[in-house]
Amino acid sequence: MIGIFRRLFGRKKTINFSHDVFSPNGRIRATFSLKQGQMVYSVKKDEVVLIRESKLGFELKDDQPIGSRLSLVRVYDRDVNNTWETVCGEEKTIINRYSETAFYLTETGEPKRLITIRFKVFNDGVAFRYEIPVQVSAKELVILDEKTEFNMDFNNEAWWIPAYQPDRYEYLHQKTPVSSINQSVHTPLTIQTTGDSYISIHEAALYDYGEMTIERVGEVLKSDITPLSDGSCAHIGLPFNTPWRTITIAGRAADLTLSRMILNLNDPPKLASTDWIKPTKYMGIWWAMHLGEYTWSNGERHGATTENTMKYINYCRSYGIPALLIEGWNESWNGDWVDNGAMFNFTKPYSDFDIKKITDYAKRSGIDLIGHHETAGDVANYERQLPAAMSYLHSLGIRYVKTGYVGSRMNHQEHHHSQFGVRHYQKVVEMAAKYGIMVDVHEPIKGTGTERTWPNMLTREGARGQEYEGGGMTPEHATVIPFTRCLAGGFDYTPGVFDIPNFTKRVASTLARQLALYVTIYSAMHMVADRPRYYKDQPAFKFIQDVPVNWQKTVPLLGEIGEYFVTARKDRDSEDWYIGGVTDENSRRVNLYLDFLDEVQYIAEIYCDSHDAHYRDHPLNVTLLNKIVNKNDKLDVYIAPGGGFAIRLKPLSNKEEKK
Ligand code: NOJ
Repeated sequence: MIGIFRRLFGRKKTINFSHDVFSPNGRIRATFSLKQGQMVYSVKKDEVVLIRESKLGFELKDDQPIGSRLSLVRVYDRDVNNTWETVCGEEKTIINRYSETAFYLTETGEPKRLITIRFKVFNDGVAFRYEIPVQVSAKELVILDEKTEFNMDFNNEAWWIPAYQPDRYEYLHQKTPVSSINQSVHTPLTIQTTGDSYISIHEAALYDYGEMTIERVGEVLKSDITPLSDGSCAHIGLPFNTPWRTITIAGRAADLTLSRMILNLNDPPKLASTDWIKPTKYMGIWWAMHLGEYTWSNGERHGATTENTMKYINYCRSYGIPALLIEGWNESWNGDWVDNGAMFNFTKPYSDFDIKKITDYAKRSGIDLIGHHETAGDVANYERQLPAAMSYLHSLGIRYVKTGYVGSRMNHQEHHHSQFGVRHYQKVVEMAAKYGIMVDVHEPIKGTGTERTWPNMLTREGARGQEYEGGGMTPEHATVIPFTRCLAGGFDYTPGVFDIPNFTKRVASTLARQLALYVTIYSAMHMVADRPRYYKDQPAFKFIQDVPVNWQKTVPLLGEIGEYFVTARKDRDSEDWYIGGVTDENSRRVNLYLDFLDEVQYIAEIYCDSHDAHYRDHPLNVTLLNKIVNKNDKLDVYIAPGGGFAIRLKPLSNKEEKK
């Protein structure tokens, strides 16, 4: 992996030049050019243009823009090919193979600022970032606009959710031609090109900068960095590297889900040790609150009482679910908590919640408790208490925390996705790491692979999850998110609702599909969301008990965005494989070729929709089948409207084979 400076230039200024960076397999080509001093780039796959000539640059406060008066100083190239192991994730071993080229540029006129554009081209996509060194003229900059464009055929179809909305990322995706994008949209922005490639625009390693959303300005798609309340995109100290701007590229929609480029663009773990990080399944005093059976606040129906929590600990133990989330345990939920974020106290339990007794009991029972820090977006209040809040959890032996930021602005002022929010979320992850605590963030900043560097950042919400059931969900949603939101990393969707026809939040799903979601959606923390009584005498619950949350390998099998998705994953800690599949409101049959299996016989435990199942009628009708299979077999599985299926493939032991 030796890098070389490929060219050194003499006195003549190079304001026109063009340089290709090819992926290791030669199929993807990113071209970076200076045209009369203006930076532009384009991307092709197999010589088909995916990203047309697109401008790069910045607008700055009290300073001239950067991007249009540049000349090339030198080019640095290297090829990288190595592998690394995840602490937890969809894959144990990740291949990190790319061609890298850095373009060192300087301005032709005063103030002669320097900038580097670094490209990394993988077999599954293109990434680039801006690197701004300390300048003679400046040690810090205020960025007013990042000019990065992603120009493409406006007939391409896009799946997007709107940015700058009160409920952050919690929207259903819309599918429109790119030409109809009429507002800023979040990334991952997934696109099917007219040439039938699939691309997803996103970013990696987002630190200390506003999130990139994408806007259409006339004929141009460009970055729109979430602003601070002062109107700027970011205040940066130099030297500064922006997040990577990424374009994942796949021939099949399902293969988008296989790309690990975003993780590869992040740094290795910064933690001294990671052996304390444990993915987990968890139950919760939670869904019953969303259904109105319990309240977060204390009073007659208070969920988080000592007695009820101990009862839930017993459920976890008897059902074999290793962790329990407790919401509504601390003072200040009474009244309108959404507007009273400043009241939240993270070290003061309600008087009917004997935290010492509960944590001792959980410890004796071998159950991990998941603490809860709802901030209602009052970051000032939370940051004031942050060290004490984390130290409090640590002193009680609590190793997980779920945080929450309900509200449309942080401190009633800043977007969650602005530089302000990005800094805050990172501060919490780092403080939690200091106290040996793993984090599940609701109302988070989107994932950009930073969990590689901070593996205690176990999972996050950041999309419309199960709590929107009762009218806010469509069967289609579960077939869109694997290709969009889930490309950004783990999603705490909170599956496992068995009481589907419940009165308050009727779930647009069959029961078999609730099982499928543990496989189709990756999350290092998956909830077993329903009230425990609904799992009693339910043979299908065995799948939830069996399914792991940490994987050795992932093999996406089938999928079309918004129609269906089927993926297979191998358990990190055993030889078992699992398959999950979901469909939209249409029923379908899928043929599953099992050629990804190892060379042994398996018993396939199949949980699928019965023929009369439908997400509206008979959603609970699930069929359980066992079959002996091997890698030469094909399974033909029926999926009901709004349905799904889940399969556990367990290698046959000699004893079972003889039977
Ligand atoms: C919204 C979160 O998504 C949900 O999980 C939580 O129960 C409530 N906020 C209260 O914190």
